[in-house]
Amino acid sequence: MMTSIPHGGTLVNRQNFGGAVDELDKELQIDQVALSDLELIASGIYSPLTGFLNEENYRSVVETMRLTTGLAWTIPVTLPVTEDAAERVSIGEKVKLTYQGEVYGTIEITEKYHPDKENEARKVYLTNDTAHPGVKRLYERGDVYLSGPIELIKRSKRPAEFANDFLDPAETRRLFDRKGWKTIVGFQTRNPIHRAHEHIQKTALETVDGLFINPLVGETKKDDIPADIRLRSYHALIDNYYVKERTALAVFPAAMRYAGPREAVFHAICRKNFGCTHFIVGRDHAGVKDYYGPYDAQKIFSNFSRDELDIQTLFFENSYFCKKCGSMASNKTCPHDPSNHVSLSGTKVRALLRDGIRPPETFSRPEVAQVLIDGLREKADLAK
Ligand code: ADX
Repeated sequence: MMTSIPHGGTLVNRQNFGGAVDELDKELQIDQVALSDLELIASGIYSPLTGFLNEENYRSVVETMRLTTGLAWTIPVTLPVTEDAAERVSIGEKVKLTYQGEVYGTIEITEKYHPDKENEARKVYLTNDTAHPGVKRLYERGDVYLSGPIELIKRSKRPAEFANDFLDPAETRRLFDRKGWKTIVGFQTRNPIHRAHEHIQKTALETVDGLFINPLVGETKKDDIPADIRLRSYHALIDNYYVKERTALAVFPAAMRYAGPREAVFHAICRKNFGCTHFIVGRDHAGVKDYYGPYDAQKIFSNFSRDELDIQTLFFENSYFCKKCGSMASNKTCPHDPSNHVSLSGTKVRALLRDGIRPPETFSRPEVAQVLIDGLREKADLAK
């Protein structure tokens, strides 16, 4: 097997860096999530999308988890704008897309439509509770969706600290080829990599050629650890505990939706576009609080045939360090009483790190914990 075929058959490229925009009179201001979606469409991470969804495709995605062509697609990629902004532009018009006064791209507007946000919330997020961060953002964004093909004229500025960790799918595909990998397992994360993450990655890696760590660095909740600190921690971990020839890292510049099951499928499709043949889905993938059951993000895959997604999912049970086993384990492999299991909530771990306390080595590698403590301390000092 070669690295996987992109979703829908062709890797999309809508990048036209330096393309002329001077003759376009009108501009639309977009938010940070739309800017990241623009870049993700343009680089082919969202293949086969070539623009923001039109109404028919939007409804189809919300109701059936598929585009109108029948191709699997679970998260609506839309361009919400205010009523006023929508009035100022016309169907058929090509306009500039700007963020904080700079032009990043263009859209040729094909449709304007009013979404049923409550229905979108219930179907995509399985709740319309505005305490859910994805639902909250859905309601905060504009009430009119614009559709149409896009072009990316300029990339947003990449943080200097991890500028080298950005690779487009065309580049990761070449990288995997160069490494001679035929089977590659993709790993999504929005957190520092702790021992449970390391365990499932390495267990997966035992059966394939290469591991592609693909941490999400787009917009996340305020209490998630900032991307620059996380990146430092990933490099510290890889340097100390991973086989370089078997590991690759590049960032996934998407915003987190916290849509649990639907986002797990979306994450798998994006990793297929990067060239992965396998994708890890563990406990409560892309979940937040208790909105989803711990394995709902695995169960959702039964709605799709193997051919439809064309990426092999690898499911993992909740894993932890067991003191009696003296190793990482899960309920599939460890017969001991849960009192022997080291498990800490994300909130608890973040609190320890913020207080400068390293979680136990059975939970987090000391090098990783130290980088996180130092990074968080630096941020706190800067904020003073
Ligand atoms: S996520 O929002 O990006 O999914 P996180 O970074 O915590 O959150 O998880 C990354 C991946 O590791 C997901 O596939 C998740 O299901 C899995 N995972 C996280 N913690 C565990 C654990 N203790 N046991 C098994 N899988 C886990």
